Amino acid sequence: MCSYVLMKILESSPSRYDRGIRILSLGKLDKIYDHLASYIRQGQRVLDIGCGTGALTLRAANNKAIVKAIDINPGMLEIARQRAQKAGLEKNIEFSEKGVAELNDEPPEAFDVVMSGLCFSELSKDEIHYALNEILPKILKPGGLLLIADETRPENIFLRSLLWLLRLPLVIITYILTQTTTSAVRQLPEKVERAGFTIETVHQNTLGNFIELIAKKESDFQN
Ligand SMILES: C[S@@+](CC[C@H](N)C(=O)[O-])C[C@H]1O[C@@H](n2cnc3c(N)ncnc32)[C@H](O)[C@@H]1O
Repeated sequence: MCSYVLMKILESSPSRYDRGIRILSLGKLDKIYDHLASYIRQGQRVLDIGCGTGALTLRAANNKAIVKAIDINPGMLEIARQRAQKAGLEKNIEFSEKGVAELNDEPPEAFDVVMSGLCFSELSKDEIHYALNEILPKILKPGGLLLIADETRPENIFLRSLLWLLRLPLVIITYILTQTTTSAVRQLPEKVERAGFTIETVHQNTLGNFIELIAKKESDFQN
C-alpha cells in the first residue's frame, strides 16, 4: 500500500483514476469505503472532503443521504458528476470546486457526517490542523461523525524505515511526473483526539501504513 503515492499520477488523468486506484489498493479500498458508508443513514447531511471521482460520495448518496462533495480538481469533480448522473443520484449531491481551507463559509452544525478518503495525505500540516481544530468542530453537529480512511506513517521505526525505502522510488517518479507528492499522515488518532473528538474505532493494517478511523463530536464537545 506504499504505492498510494502513485495516486497523484492517476489524479492527472481522472478518467483512469478509478481503475488505477482499484489496482493500487488490490481492491481493498472498496471494502473499506463500504464499511465507512455503512455509518451513513437516510436523510443525513454529509460532507465529503476531497471527493475525487465520488467513491464515498456515491455510496453516501446511495444510502439516501444529502451530500456536499468538495474537491480542488475540476477533472475529478467532472467524473464524479458523470458517475452520479449515471447512477441517478445527482439530485442528492451538491458538487463544489473548493479546498478544505475554504470550508469556513459553511454554516455551523451543517453536517451529521464529515468523511474523507485518501485526501488528508494530500493536505499540508497546516491544512490538517485547521480542518481538525477549526473547521470540523464548527460544521459538525453535536453527536456528528468523522469518517477518515488514509495512508499513515507507521509508528514502528523498523516498518517506517522499510516503507520509506520502498516508497522512495515511487515518490521520485511521482514528483518527476506531477511536481507533487503525498505525505502519509502522522499520528492521526492523536490529532483527532487533541482536536476534542472521541475516537469510536480505529483499524490499522498490519504494516501500520493505512488507517480507517471513526470519531464522534460529543454533545459536550470542547476543543
Ligand atoms: C487520492 S484522491 C481520493 C479521492 C476520493 N476521496 C477517493 O477516495 O477516491 C484525493 C483527492 O483529494 C483532492 N484534494 C487534494 N487537496 C485538497 C484540498 N486541499 N481540498 C480539497 N480536496 C483536495 C484531490 O484533488 C483528489 O481528488
